[in-house]
Amino acid sequence: MELIQIVEEKLKGHDDRITHVYGVLSRALELQALYGGNIEVIKTSALLHDLFKYDSMDAQLAVIQDKSLVKQYRHATVMYHALAAAYYVRDHLNIKDDLVFEAISNHVWGKINMSLETMIIVVADYCEPNRTFKEANIVYELAKKDLVAAYVLSLEFVTNYLYEQGIMPHQEQLDAIAFYKENK
Ligand SMILES: [Fe+2]
Ligand SMILES: [Fe+2]
Repeated sequence: MELIQIVEEKLKGHDDRITHVYGVLSRALELQALYGGNIEVIKTSALLHDLFKYDSMDAQLAVIQDKSLVKQYRHATVMYHALAAAYYVRDHLNIKDDLVFEAISNHVWGKINMSLETMIIVVADYCEPNRTFKEANIVYELAKKDLVAAYVLSLEFVTNYLYEQGIMPHQEQLDAIAFYKENK
């Protein structure tokens, strides 16, 4: 089955999410044209990254093979849809590519020493054309000039928003900001 068919079927009834997925794909390919990275990896990761967005938590947990990850993110359960998609793509769609696995499982906030492909997906996810908040456009404009700076800024916007809501960001988010500020 074509990847597009898989997306349309799994996200059936969630038209806005499907539009978002195509937005991430177009933004990611735009960034690939500027910065390089494996096109197939980027296309596959962009199309499949939110495949489990609307599954129940039980359904998400059922496909995450590494149970230590479940524990690791028990206070950041938004990570489960990303991990579930990564495992599903690897174990059920049989796409055995470490870069795809990394990009999908880390699409929520990236990680220290991530691949170029992962960073492109994270930034594209934040600033795809259908995002309406003003920070998305600020990140997009910066991404055309400096991908790493755009990544850091997107994470700063996210973590500042969390602080405003009284929510402590995950330590990994703070570590990633510090790492990429030092390693520009
Ligand atoms: Fe997501
Ligand atoms: Fe997304």
